[in-house]
Amino acid sequence: MKPALILDHTDIIGEIIAPLLTWYKGQAQTRQLPWREAPTPYHTWLSEIMLQQTRATAVIPYYNRFLEEFPDISTLANADEEVLMKLWQGLGYYSRARNLKKAAQVILQEHQGKLPQDQKQLLSLPGIGRYTANAIASIAYGLPLPAVDGNVLRVIARVITCREDIMAPRTRKAFEELLLPHYPEGQDAGALNQAFMDLGATICLPHGVPHCAHCPLAKLCLAKETGTPQDFPQKAAAKAKRKEERTILLIKQGNHIALHKRPNQGLLAGLWEFPNLTGQLDRSKVKEYLRQQQLTPLKIEKLPAAKHIFSHITWQLTGWKIQLAPADLRIAETKDNFTWATPAEIASQFSIPTAFAHYISYIK
Ligand code: ADE
Repeated sequence: MKPALILDHTDIIGEIIAPLLTWYKGQAQTRQLPWREAPTPYHTWLSEIMLQQTRATAVIPYYNRFLEEFPDISTLANADEEVLMKLWQGLGYYSRARNLKKAAQVILQEHQGKLPQDQKQLLSLPGIGRYTANAIASIAYGLPLPAVDGNVLRVIARVITCREDIMAPRTRKAFEELLLPHYPEGQDAGALNQAFMDLGATICLPHGVPHCAHCPLAKLCLAKETGTPQDFPQKAAAKAKRKEERTILLIKQGNHIALHKRPNQGLLAGLWEFPNLTGQLDRSKVKEYLRQQQLTPLKIEKLPAAKHIFSHITWQLTGWKIQLAPADLRIAETKDNFTWATPAEIASQFSIPTAFAHYISYIK
């Protein structure tokens, strides 16, 4: 049996609500985030999904472009898959976009086109977990539910100097239970959740020295009092990432570049890639591969190495740029079924994930 969680000084939790809300309302003008301007249920849902793994400043242009293409739940439910993936290009975790579309279809079929208000019904939609359900329910519908993400975990762990592992689900659950009785209803519910997010993003920082001098909770925070905010929160060490070597090939025929569609399952499912192979291929191996594809290179140039970090794998990338002989464009004949596209077509129609986009500047 695991030892019980140690949660001391929990009486402070009730005291942080009022100063946090006052601070949020006072500084609300300073962070201009488009989803806060018109927080309809759809806008809130979309923004919370985009913000799951991504910083707010990076999300803003994606959010605006997405809403131009899919202004409501019904257009999203009918989204063309390639257009959807193109709009997500660079944001990562592409299953979020697919789940948005799937959930939009469920909302049309089972909820008369309206995002449900109920926490349980929200949780039953694809892509919506506990944090997102509570964020939507509080911001869009004013329900008194704490949205416990990394920011909340860090702020609370510092305020009460809690040494429990914040990556453990039971710590998250315990913090949610500590917060729940203190949550206000109506607009303040969403404001409080967003206050935690803003405090975590701008003051109670995860890396480096937090800006305690500007913190509305400075007088209450035990980690600040003992001069140890950076000792909190405690986190179990992350698993080491698996390393993989890959070789990316930019194969050019005149102004056309070879693309390949990834399988519909697994990493970066269904997205477009430059042809690539496991391992670090040298020039002779590249030639051998081209021969197998019945392609004759005129020129083969080595490109700089690159690295791409996924949540659980690191790709060590090697690149080669290959110019083919003009007579060799047998579009449908390559063994690996390439699609050939111009740089302009790639830019407008094909979703190439960042892992491959490291090499995109060399296609010109
Ligand atoms: N991160 C997650 N949700 C957010 C929101 N509504 N505003 C700012 N940052 C966020």
